[in-house]
Amino acid sequence: MQDDLERILFDEDTIRRRLDELAEKISSDYHDRDLTVIAILNGSVILMADLLRRIPLPLKLDCLSVASYHGGTKTTGELIFRQLWMPDIAGRHVILLDDILDSGVTLATIREKIESIGPESVRICVLLEKKKTRLRHVDADYVGFQIADEFVVGYGLDYMERYRNLPYIGVLRKDLIAATA
Ligand code: IMP
Ligand code: MG
Repeated sequence: MQDDLERILFDEDTIRRRLDELAEKISSDYHDRDLTVIAILNGSVILMADLLRRIPLPLKLDCLSVASYHGGTKTTGELIFRQLWMPDIAGRHVILLDDILDSGVTLATIREKIESIGPESVRICVLLEKKKTRLRHVDADYVGFQIADEFVVGYGLDYMERYRNLPYIGVLRKDLIAATA
């Protein structure tokens, strides 16, 4: 899989160190709050497992499954919720956890939906934030790394469902991205 990368952006050690910092900040911000983390599937599974094990709080965990890409590298602007029931977060402080903030469509749509259920508060945590003009405005409260507007894979991030299990993050070779993407 490594041969499919143009270059590595963040190796395992770098990710580990940054997760230590993020976890410390979240642990201190929520030490006296009822925290529910809602992980957005599938991209945030690796981040979820590694980050949450560093947060020694009595938090609750829920997952939301959404799709927007249909296999390409650009958002369609339309989000499909794959479950019938939303998590029970009335009165709780929520952190939405996702792999990457790109166009903003995913997190803006999920945030609206979650806010309509009546949580105490909603914040957003992403491992990566692309520096670009977004289709929807989203402020991420906790950001692992900012990156340029390039297509990246690994550590949960996929291209056509591949590369999620790479333990590091890299830029996918452009010649491997389908011309129609
Ligand atoms: P947004 O709705 O455009 O912000 O996109 C969010 C979702 O698109 C993420 O959760 C990812 O699944 C996917 N995505 C956006 N950029 C990338 C990328 O560079 N590599 C892999 N997936 C990406
Ligand atoms: Mg994806």
